Amino acid sequence: MISILQSFIMGSGIRSIVQLGHYKGYSTLMIGFMLRRMGIEKGLVSIDLDPKITDYARGWVEPPGLEPHDAHGQRPARRAISRPPRPCSGGRPRCVIIDSSHQYAHTLRELDLWWPAIAPGGMMFLHDCSEFARKWDTTGEGGVRRAIQEWLPRHPEAGSILLEGDPRADEYSAYADGCGLGILQKPLAPIPGT
Ligand SMILES: C[S@@+](CC[C@H](N)C(=O)[O-])C[C@H]1O[C@@H](n2cnc3c(N)ncnc32)[C@H](O)[C@@H]1O
Repeated sequence: MISILQSFIMGSGIRSIVQLGHYKGYSTLMIGFMLRRMGIEKGLVSIDLDPKITDYARGWVEPPGLEPHDAHGQRPARRAISRPPRPCSGGRPRCVIIDSSHQYAHTLRELDLWWPAIAPGGMMFLHDCSEFARKWDTTGEGGVRRAIQEWLPRHPEAGSILLEGDPRADEYSAYADGCGLGILQKPLAPIPGT
């Protein structure tokens, strides 16, 4: 997932990113390094419902000076996803990365909440969208995969690629992550004369 995020973020100069679910801060740290390399400050907002894990993540991202500018870790998840937080310094999010509850119903709410917030031409990345990763849904309702499968037909405007790796270590798959990654793109702003 990080390799793909790096190619989009650094390749296309994505300067305003929202991350849902930072856990111990690995991807937050990686994205922070990318933004710093690109010379962008305050380009990342990160949200996690777990205050303890957020404190732990801070211990990793603060020393190198990479703290996301508005970590909502102290807020209950219900509030954190009730409305998009204030925008990043680069304006509307150009990229939203969802790696949070992995639950079907909650992921649908995240999609409905964040899709309208993304800038035209922006992207959404959803980790754990593979068949294999359905089992991470603690409610047993089908996880991220089912949420995307039901959401996409309601949003024919969305460009989509669903990558799925083979979770068996001895089987080849050009995309190696068995948990899969969903990539959605919002339509571009209208181009005059077309
Ligand atoms: C799989 S981990 C994220 C891993 C992280 N993206 C990384 O690359 O290291 C999932 C995280 O989502 C958080 N989470 C679960 N439900 C959430 C919710 N409803 N809102 C926000 N965060 C949530 C959990 O506390 C956990 O830290």
